[in-house]
Order: sequence, then structure tokens, then C-alpha cells
Amino acid sequence: MKDQLIIFDTTLRDGEQSPGASMTKEEKIRVARQLEKMRVNVIEAGFAAASHGDFDAIHSIAQTIKDSTVCSLARANENDIARAGESIKPAASGRIHTFIATSPIHMEKKLRMSPDQVVEQAIKAIGWARQYTDNVEFSAEDAGRSEIDFLCRICEAVIKAGAKTINIPDTVGYNIPYQYAETIRQLIERVPNADKVIWSVHCHNDLGLAVANSLAAVLAGARQVECTINGLGERAGNASLEEIVMAVKTRADIFPVETRIDTTQIVPASKLVSQITGYPVQPNKAIVGANAFAHESGIHQDGVLKHRETYEIMRAEDVGWSQNKLVLGKHSGRNAFKSRLNEIGIELSSDEALNAAFARFKDLADKKHEIFDEDLQALISDEAATPEHEPYKLIYSRVCSETGETPRAEVTLSVNGAEAKGESEGGGPVDAVFKAIERIANSGAELLLFSINAITTGTDAQGEVTVRLSKDGRIVNGNGADTDIVVASAKSYLNALNKLHSTDVRLNPQGDV
Ligand code: KIV
Ligand code: ZN
Repeated sequence: MKDQLIIFDTTLRDGEQSPGASMTKEEKIRVARQLEKMRVNVIEAGFAAASHGDFDAIHSIAQTIKDSTVCSLARANENDIARAGESIKPAASGRIHTFIATSPIHMEKKLRMSPDQVVEQAIKAIGWARQYTDNVEFSAEDAGRSEIDFLCRICEAVIKAGAKTINIPDTVGYNIPYQYAETIRQLIERVPNADKVIWSVHCHNDLGLAVANSLAAVLAGARQVECTINGLGERAGNASLEEIVMAVKTRADIFPVETRIDTTQIVPASKLVSQITGYPVQPNKAIVGANAFAHESGIHQDGVLKHRETYEIMRAEDVGWSQNKLVLGKHSGRNAFKSRLNEIGIELSSDEALNAAFARFKDLADKKHEIFDEDLQALISDEAATPEHEPYKLIYSRVCSETGETPRAEVTLSVNGAEAKGESEGGGPVDAVFKAIERIANSGAELLLFSINAITTGTDAQGEVTVRLSKDGRIVNGNGADTDIVVASAKSYLNALNKLHSTDVRLNPQGDV
């Protein structure tokens, strides 16, 4: 019998700390449902004390999710821990994850606390958390740059205080695999009662080593890995869930552990997170990149045709790549539409929401005869990403683009219900349409990113556009999809402007604490 490797997903907490990746409550619930379907053990749903929005999202996820533990992050103080405890109250299984920094530089410069004070605070934090649940995790922030003797001391203290999981984060992505594994090995060997807790790892990817460090730690005895879908996360991101899970599964000859993950849900999860956050997946990304299973060279193709395992170590279908499945067409009815949404894990909150989505589906089916699951996901994402109060709406756009001529765009917008028109020339049709919108909005926002992806194959595919805008230090992503890529671009630009105006979109998740 192999040990179980606990998969702790922090896409909704650390992942959401990526610039512009903030999600609405509804989007977070959709991701949480997909994570549950994939059978992750623990979902870190947010940082409850950061804002009312974070608290509310965690609370709703705790009410919704039954088969995964729902966890909230808290600094090691009484208020954060009380908010975390309240937020996970409805959960079938809840966890509080509390942390304090343990490296000399963090203790001295950030906390301005002595090592003795840090140990005292950590012990108190475990006590406060245990008033809400026995399932308490402790993290020694910046453990990757902490002194091993001090780590042993604080870990011994928090085990005595009742922590059940101890996490050793490489917060700044500084470690090298053999060194990180050695830290885990020494902790397990030296800390009294080390066998009474689960040892966990949480690696950042600043040197591109997050997955390698996590796997080295598993070989040294760690039994929980903290990771995110597509490796999303602060700065260069976290260890990517799909790479960890598939490494352990594919190299079962090396790893003495197994996960309970339903790997066929990996690609759907990757697409969902990418669509919602507007972070595209690079084509050559392991496991979930569009080219991850594509063989280009003749020699490889010939080998795979003769015997698949000549060049393939995993099967595409095992991670959820399926042939693009035609699911619906223009004659499909409301019931077929609703039941397909349910099959891909989307439940709309009301009949009105269903009717609105069905009307959009019919519009799309008129332009594009074959509708795939990815189209449905985009259609619902578009709807869900729309803030409640939407000052800007696209009524009309017209773009002229001719060889040798300067492209020109005209747009008509509804601005708080009143019609406004703008026109502009631009370097290209998208540039012209953005400038025409700005003639009306005059937002002063800076465009940080424009990216476009075809959602499915075929020249009638919808283009999915992400626009990242920054204003007054706040960063938002706007998304839009349409079979006309200039319209998709206009929609995504307006979606980002609406988010900049909205008070119900959390602009700096966890950033204000
Ligand atoms: O990177 C880190 O140290 C963290 C902790 C809060 C676990 O995200
Ligand atoms: Zn982190």
C-alpha cells in the first residue's frame, strides 16, 4: 500500500494573487466545484480577513463543497483567525491555515519580532485556531531561507500546541531540489513527534524549480503538496498541480505515494481557470498546453503510429484531452442546453440567468453552427465576468481595414444608459477600436496586456480576448469572446473598464492587509 499524497490546491488564494487574476464570488465557486470534481483533498478558498469579498467567497464555497476540505488562510493573530474560523463554519470539513515568518530577514525587518516572540505567537495562533477546528495547518513563511535549528524549534512547539499539518514554504523560490529535500528530511528526523503531523510543501517558481523542489520533498517524506492549476500564483507562480499529479502517477516506480485525483478533469480545470483569470496557457506547457501531446516530426509521428509508447509517456485522454466534441447546434433546445451546462459543472442561479444565457447561445449558434463545450464555458464566463453595475455596454461597432489604408473604427456605446459615439484611426483594427472607445471613456488607464486565443479549432472559432488595464495602482483583466475578433476585443476592453468602475469586483485580492 502506498501513502496518500494530499493535494492542497491554492489557486483561489495564492493563484488569485497573480496581477489581475482576481475572481468574483461566482467564478470562485465554479472553480471550487471543478476542483471538487477533480477530487483535490483541500481547497484553499481565500484569505478571510483580507476583505468582505474574500470572506463571503470562502463562506459560500464552504456551503457548496462537500467532498474536499475547505481552508482559509490567516496570519497568526486573533482577528485573522476568528475571520477564518467564521468563514469555514458551514464546511463539511474545514481547515484554518495560519502562518508567521521564520527567516531572520522577515523576523527582523518585516515583523520586528525576536525569534522567541515568533514562537510564542505561533503557539497562541494554534490555540486560537483550535477554538474553531482541530484541523489546523501551520506555515513557517520563508522557511526556505530560515535556519534549520529555529525551524526545528518552532515546528516542535506548534506540534505540541496541536497543529495537524506543518507547511514549509519556499516563499521566494530560492531553494534547489537537493537542498530543499534535505530541509524536509532533517525536520522529519529531528523534530519530536514528527510522525504525528503531515509535512507539507509550498514552492514558488522564481527559479523555475517549484515542481522539482516539491517532488524532491515528497521523496524526502512530505505528504502534502500545495499547488495551483496552471502554476498560477504570486510572481512566477506556484508548483503546478497538473505536473505534480502526473509526475507521481507516471513515475509510480519512483514515488512511494499516490493521489486520489481524477486526472481526466485536469484539462477542463486548466481551461476553466485560464478563461476566468484571462491567463492563457502557453502551447508548450507540460500536460495542459495545446501542443503537449502533438508530435510534429515525421520520425516521432511514425514511431507513435507504430507503437504509441515509443514517444508518449502519458495518454492525452488520461488528462482530459478529448477530441473536440460537438455538443450542441442551432436547433438544440433550452433543455438540451441546460443539461449540457450541468454536465460540464455549470449551474445557473436562476431561470432569468438561464434564459439570458440561452439567448446568447442562440445568437452564437446562428454565427457558428457547431457549439463545443469550450464555447459554452466562454459564454458563461463572459456573463459571469460582467459586474453587476455595468456603465459601458457595446451597442455597435464598425471597423474599416484595407490594404494600404489606415484602419478606422466607429463605436456606439451605452454609457450609464445614454448613447455615446466615438471614432478613431489606429495602427490596426483593434488599436482603432480601443482608441475609439477611449474617445468616449477617457479613462486614463494603461493597457498592460492584450492577448487573443481561438477557443476551438476552425476559422469560425470564437476568439477569446484578454485585456489587462492598470489605473491608480489597480490592475484588472477584462475578457470577451466573439466569432468576430474585433468585437471580442471591444467587449474585453469594456469589461475591463467596467471592472475598474465597479465596487463589487475585488481589485487587489489580499493586497490591502
Ligand atoms: O508563499 C508562502 O509562504 C505562502 C504562505 C502564506 C503559505 O503563500
Ligand atoms: Zn505562496
